Amino acid sequence: MESMKDPTILPPSNLGPQTNRLSSEAQSTSTQIIYCSPVMDQLMKLVDRIAQSNAAVLILGESGTGKDLIARSIHERSHRHNKPFVVINCSALRETLLESELFGHEKGAFTGAYARKIGLAEVADGGTLFLDEIGELSPAIQAKLLRFLQEGEMFRVGGKEKIKVDVRLISATNRDLEDDVKKGNFREDLFYRINTIIPRTPPLRQRREDIPMLVDYFLSHGSHRYLKRGLKMSQEALDVLLKYDWPGNVRELQNLCDRLQILTEGHTIMLGDLPEHLTETEAISNRLTITDFDPNMSLYELEKRYILMGLQHFQGNKTRAANALGITIKTLYNKLHEYGVFDKFATQGRE
Ligand SMILES: Nc1ncnc2c1ncn2[C@@H]1O[C@H](COP(=O)(O)OP(=O)(O)OP(=O)(O)O)[C@@H](O)[C@H]1O
Ligand SMILES: [Mg+2]
Repeated sequence: MESMKDPTILPPSNLGPQTNRLSSEAQSTSTQIIYCSPVMDQLMKLVDRIAQSNAAVLILGESGTGKDLIARSIHERSHRHNKPFVVINCSALRETLLESELFGHEKGAFTGAYARKIGLAEVADGGTLFLDEIGELSPAIQAKLLRFLQEGEMFRVGGKEKIKVDVRLISATNRDLEDDVKKGNFREDLFYRINTIIPRTPPLRQRREDIPMLVDYFLSHGSHRYLKRGLKMSQEALDVLLKYDWPGNVRELQNLCDRLQILTEGHTIMLGDLPEHLTETEAISNRLTITDFDPNMSLYELEKRYILMGLQHFQGNKTRAANALGITIKTLYNKLHEYGVFDKFATQGRE
């Protein structure tokens, strides 16, 4: 029997109001959200307002930006916080299994249904149902979910009895759901049912000011913190992290901090302790940093010099130079004509 990858049912919370900023007495709770950036501040204010309502919430954002965390936080700040918070990962289950997980089933509803099973939607009664990765739902389940949301009632698989449940729905996805609607992969009517309010979790590269706080937090609260009490990050290493683009967002930063807790030998994380892909980007951007503005150097002149440097670098090989410069070979020829140096490079570095 297939089992759910991520069925989380939080017991009624007694955590009380969450502290949303890292403070010296900050507690490690499941929804500790660390930030100091204005964009996150705005998002958390929205979360506070959303929490007071029963509106359906659709959280959008790249992978690893904290959508789960925001969903939990909305639940914990709402009047439903003493009731269950039930998570269903829509991508983790086959269609038939998902339906019976969500709505439950009666004894004998299908082969293997030896006993009645209460669905997670019913378990969430009075609380919050969080449908993670909602963009992965099949059309058949989309239709059933829509009916459930419209009527507030459901049937167990194989059941005849209408069951009334009161849940607050939160959904999340890192897909472009609007595009899925346009392409016919996601029902438009369901889309409008689930998206009364759409908070967006910003990518980490748009809130770099949060990085130092997150690093401090992950180094002191990470899963391997017992290995290195008080591990610190040097300013040079932090500077690299501040410039990196973080395609995997906060999760990538958290994984890095976890790894550094195990691998760093000293008490301070130095530049050399960071993985190469981070420092390489740094080295490249350092080489290209122009620190002083030269009033005698026009953009045209700068471009000309840079293009000629590219050609020198590849010993006159125009194909490789054009590739590295990110221009077509035709553009490169045109530029060389323009600079009056075409003949000089015509015979050099035949490719
Ligand atoms: N602001 C934050 N403060 C502390 N931890 C954070 C913050 N944002 C994210 N995290 C942590 O980063 C990890 C990824 O966050 P989360 O699982 O909420 O992302 P997600 O947007 O749901 O990602 P996915 O789309 O891949 O499911 C989690 O371990 C979470 O606790
Ligand atoms: Mg998630």
